Amino acid sequence: MKNYLIVLLISYVSFSLSQNTEKEKFIDDLISKMTLVEKAGQMNQYNGFFDATGEMPEGDYQTKRYNELKNGQVGSMLNVIGVDEIKAFQRIAVEDTRLGIPLIFGHDVIHGYKTIFPIPLAESCTWDMDLIKKTARTAAREASADGLNWTFAPMVDISRDARWGRVMEGAGEDPFLGSLIAKARVQGFQGDNLSDISTIAACAKHYAGYGFSEAGRDYNTADFNHYTLHNTILPPFKAANDAGVKTFMNAFNTIDEIPATGHKILQRDILKKDWAFDGFIVSDWGSIEQMIPHGFARDGNHAAELAILAGSDMDMESSLYVNELVKLVENGKIGISLIDDAVRRILNVKYDLGLFENPYKYCDKKRSEKELMSEKNMNLALEVAMKSIVLLKNESELLPLNKNNQTIALIGPLASDKNSSLGNWRSQAISNSATSVLEAMTNYSGNKLFYEKGVDLYYNNTDFHNRVNLNFDDRSEFNKAKTVAEKADIVVMVLGEEGYQSGEGRSRTNIKLPGLQLELLKEIYEINKNIVLVVNSGRPLDLSWEDENIPTIVQAWQLGSRSGEAIAKVLYGDYNPSGKLTMSFPRNVGQVPIYYNFKNTGRPSTSIEQVTNSGYADVENSALYPFGHGLSYTKFSYTDVLLDKTELTLKSKITLSFKIKNIGTVKGTEIAQMYIRDVVGSIARPMRELKGFKVVELNPGESKVVNFEINAKLLEFYSYNNKWEAELGDFQVFVGGSSDTSDFQEFELVN
Ligand code: NOJ
Repeated sequence: MKNYLIVLLISYVSFSLSQNTEKEKFIDDLISKMTLVEKAGQMNQYNGFFDATGEMPEGDYQTKRYNELKNGQVGSMLNVIGVDEIKAFQRIAVEDTRLGIPLIFGHDVIHGYKTIFPIPLAESCTWDMDLIKKTARTAAREASADGLNWTFAPMVDISRDARWGRVMEGAGEDPFLGSLIAKARVQGFQGDNLSDISTIAACAKHYAGYGFSEAGRDYNTADFNHYTLHNTILPPFKAANDAGVKTFMNAFNTIDEIPATGHKILQRDILKKDWAFDGFIVSDWGSIEQMIPHGFARDGNHAAELAILAGSDMDMESSLYVNELVKLVENGKIGISLIDDAVRRILNVKYDLGLFENPYKYCDKKRSEKELMSEKNMNLALEVAMKSIVLLKNESELLPLNKNNQTIALIGPLASDKNSSLGNWRSQAISNSATSVLEAMTNYSGNKLFYEKGVDLYYNNTDFHNRVNLNFDDRSEFNKAKTVAEKADIVVMVLGEEGYQSGEGRSRTNIKLPGLQLELLKEIYEINKNIVLVVNSGRPLDLSWEDENIPTIVQAWQLGSRSGEAIAKVLYGDYNPSGKLTMSFPRNVGQVPIYYNFKNTGRPSTSIEQVTNSGYADVENSALYPFGHGLSYTKFSYTDVLLDKTELTLKSKITLSFKIKNIGTVKGTEIAQMYIRDVVGSIARPMRELKGFKVVELNPGESKVVNFEINAKLLEFYSYNNKWEAELGDFQVFVGGSSDTSDFQEFELVN
């Protein structure tokens, strides 16, 4: 038996080696035939610049690009959509160019392609890796069926600042959870075999530190120290790399005053050398050229030189690689080996996708007709939307709503909206294709339902891509809303951000409910206090007034295609909410950046009265709703918390166990969390860090024992010695249903 296994192993290894050598031989051979112009061309990516199934390109800009395309000077395109268009572009690359190298087609498939899933921040609140993997898998199936083979996702930027609009694209503030989610998303997009027609290459972005844009202002300078880079920012990127992600995208920001796109330590030393990343790095849109306004590059030629030296392999939309690389090599500024390395990386990914075998393999109309928005995909959208909802507050248990004999006033501009909940980065979503809360609540016919929008979020005819034009003075609909509120038993108000109010370029300094919505809420509250507030947003909002006054608050983000039904099912108790926040909600914008894994400082503050401690005079330091927080229609008790040993050695493990019981009357799901504090370190350590969690489903009265294993590996961090290691000493371990849980056990790490 043993011998048989060895033979099997040897044949497997030699099979993979022969496949590899075959691939290497193919690519070496191809590179040997390529001119320098064609090599630079592979490193050039253009946005879809004309309709390839329509009229011939016109004007200088289009003509230049078209000629380059036919001349083998374009290696990739982005935002070319649909089987016909992609086929038409691919045909030019394959049939008109000298070597016929196929293009790789990329697009931002961020939270679904045509079937839209909740925005990534919302989805992260499920803490459910299988589900997250499934939505990425489904998005890949849809996108690949429509001709695409590369997504610019997942975004794995850790983000602590709700002013930054792009928090909606990530998995929140925690590197441990963020790493698991990065891995799940990469595995979902790429599957087990990249050459399968239903998988696409993933892209870990934005490498790195983009989530730390100062003051939450998009594209701004990012400022953080070396330890924050390694302990907080890089882990999800490392996890994506370990999961085999094929591409990375660099970032717009500077790190240590150097633009990420021109950052050699980051790209060549850490990513390509230390982590042995063998895919390619694409620049962010124009980020090579943007090194000029950064004051880092003198001109386009210099920018291209700095970018290639630093390890950026493909130029998205700057045209600088195509314009400058040949000159740079000919002038001896850069060696051909750098170009060859970048080209090899790009060709490798194309090879892995199977594009050399069949450049049109992703272009199958029949498959796209069957796959896009299929019933199965839309059902998944509902499941994940329900699980993404976080019940922030449920005082006096207004929720779940009774299904009969109640009068309900449904109020708010977002309650009838079928577009907003598709969110930003909605890829190919059909406009107005989401279900609305109004539609979904109408299906619960045992109650009387009255709807009034109450206020418009924007002035009429506003293009939602526009950032301004919020309605600040038209209150003409207020009275109608008050009238329905007056006669209702319960008022459900659906308020928040329109889908394009968060996302790229959508930074805000005021993160309260936008426009006149808070004013409307306050006026309705004067009439009827039984309010269930449903918040749609792409970021944590400042909900302090709401928290103080409104008995029930549901955080429903932007939940995608089946948003309305998901919300209605939660409101009516057909789904018992189980989501937990992955970003802290501040008490007001002055607290951001705010995150649960903060450091203690030398003068920790325990009350607002203390003057010379690290606190504020007007609000306490804690978050309004912390990371990990989320309620259910039932309650859970945590008891019998036990560590089997209080001493851990570098090679042993200890087990933390506890009993979790459903002490309410309905079935529910709890996400039990474990946090560890390293009390003293060679650098100041966070007050606690998430180190484990389990999703536990319990019937009323049922209990389960949950175990977590703790070993030295789990305690490692990037230490003063500039390496990942666990340091001996005391540790505290906390368990509970949120990051602010207070009971802890202690153990010591010894030699
Ligand atoms: C710029 C964004 O920063 C990036 O995330 C995106 O992938 C590209 N544009 C392409 O759309």
